[in-house]
Amino acid sequence: MESVSRDLDMPDDSNPLRRLSLEQLRRRTSMKWRTYPHDVLPLWVAEMDVPLAEPVAEAITDAVALGDTGYPAGTAYAEALAEFAHKWWGWGGLAVGRTAIVPDVMLGIVEMLKLVSSPGDPVIVNCPVYPPFYQFVGNLDRPVVEAPLGPDLRIEFAALENAFRSAGRGSARGAALGAARGANRPVYLLCSPHNPTGTVHTAAELTRIAHLAREYGVRVVVDEIHAPIVAAGASFVPFLSVPGAENGLSLMSASKAWNLAGLKAALAIAGPEAADDLARIPEEVSHGPSHVGVIAHTAALRDGGDWLDALLRGLDDNRRLLASLLAEHLPSIGYAPAQGTFLAWLDCRDLGLGSDPAEAFLKRGRVALSSGRAFGTGGEGFVRLNLAASPEVITEAVRRMASAVV
Ligand SMILES: Cc1ncc(COP(=O)(O)O)c(C=O)c1O
Repeated sequence: MESVSRDLDMPDDSNPLRRLSLEQLRRRTSMKWRTYPHDVLPLWVAEMDVPLAEPVAEAITDAVALGDTGYPAGTAYAEALAEFAHKWWGWGGLAVGRTAIVPDVMLGIVEMLKLVSSPGDPVIVNCPVYPPFYQFVGNLDRPVVEAPLGPDLRIEFAALENAFRSAGRGSARGAALGAARGANRPVYLLCSPHNPTGTVHTAAELTRIAHLAREYGVRVVVDEIHAPIVAAGASFVPFLSVPGAENGLSLMSASKAWNLAGLKAALAIAGPEAADDLARIPEEVSHGPSHVGVIAHTAALRDGGDWLDALLRGLDDNRRLLASLLAEHLPSIGYAPAQGTFLAWLDCRDLGLGSDPAEAFLKRGRVALSSGRAFGTGGEGFVRLNLAASPEVITEAVRRMASAVV
C-alpha cells in the first residue's frame, strides 16, 4: 500500500474524494476503517472517504463553540430539505407540516412500519436489497416477502404484483373485504435509488408502483436516503411527487450524500393522505436525533450544494474508472455503471470464486467488499463495492481483486 499512500499525499482541492490520504483515513475509528486488519483495503460499508463539506464543519464548529449541544427543536431541517427538493428535483410538494424528525433512516422506517402495519403483516422488498431491510423488518415481527428485481436490475412489475397479491388481499375488492375483517396491512418498502444496484427509478415506474399499491391495498414506505446522489444525466424523482402516491411515507436524510451517518438525524415525510398516520408518531421519537446532527444535516442541505456537485463529478469519474479497470483486469465481472448511489454491484459469478466471492477477495486479495449474499435472493455470487474513495484506492482495490482470482 506504500505507493497508494504516496499518491494520496497529493491533495486535489476540488474533488472531495481526493482530499484525504490513506494514512489519514486509517486514523479514522469508524466501522469502515476498524472492522478489518490494517492490511485490508476497505471498500465495503457505505461511508465515504471525504472530509466534511466546509459549511457542515463550520456549523458544527460554531455549535461546539457555543455549547449548542442540547436537544433538537424546530423545523429547520425540514425547511432546508424542502428548499433543496425544490432546487434539485423541482419538487415543491414537501410540506414542512407533514414531516417528523427521526433518529436515522432505519429507525424512521421502523416507526413508519409501526404506524401503518402490525406484527405479522408482510413487508415486500425488491431483492437484492440493503441487508438491514431484512433485519429491522424481521425484528419487528413482520415477515419479509421478496419481489426480485429483473435481470436489468429494475423493478419487475409481474413479480411485484405477485408479491402484492400474495402479501395481502388479492384484489381491490379483496382489499376492501380485508380491511373490514381487520386483515393484513401489507407494506411495500421501496428503496429509491436502490441499494445495492444504484437503480434510479423513473417517474413512470414510480407512478405505476403507486397505482399498483393502491389497487392491492398496500402502503408504500420509501427509503430515499441516496436521493441526492445521481450520475450526470440522471434525475431522481421523489416518490411523493408522483400521482397516486399521496398516501405514501418517505424517509430522507443528508447522511449518505454528505457522509453524516455519525451525526444522527433523518426526516420522515408524509404525503397528504398519510398526514394523519404520521401525526400518530410517538412524541418521544423526536428525542432520538442528535441536535448537533440536525444542525449538520441542515447546513449540508442549505449550503452544501457546491460540495455535492464536486462529489457527484468525482463519483462520475469513479464509475468510469471502475468500468475501465474491470474491463482491463477482470473482464469476466459484470458491471454496468449505475445512475445512482456511490455503490457498484458486481456480478462475479463467472470468476469461479464460489458463492461468496467477497470472502475470496478478502482472504486472498486483502480487499473488503460487501458480500452479495447478505442482500437476499439474487445476491449470491455478487459483491458490492463502495465507489466513494479516491481513484487511487479504487485502482488498488481492483488490482487486489485481480490478484485473488489468479
Ligand atoms: C438504503 C439505505 N437505507 C438506510 C441506510 C442507513 O441509514 P441510517 O444510518 O440513517 O439509518 C443506508 C446506509 O447505507 C442505506 O443505504
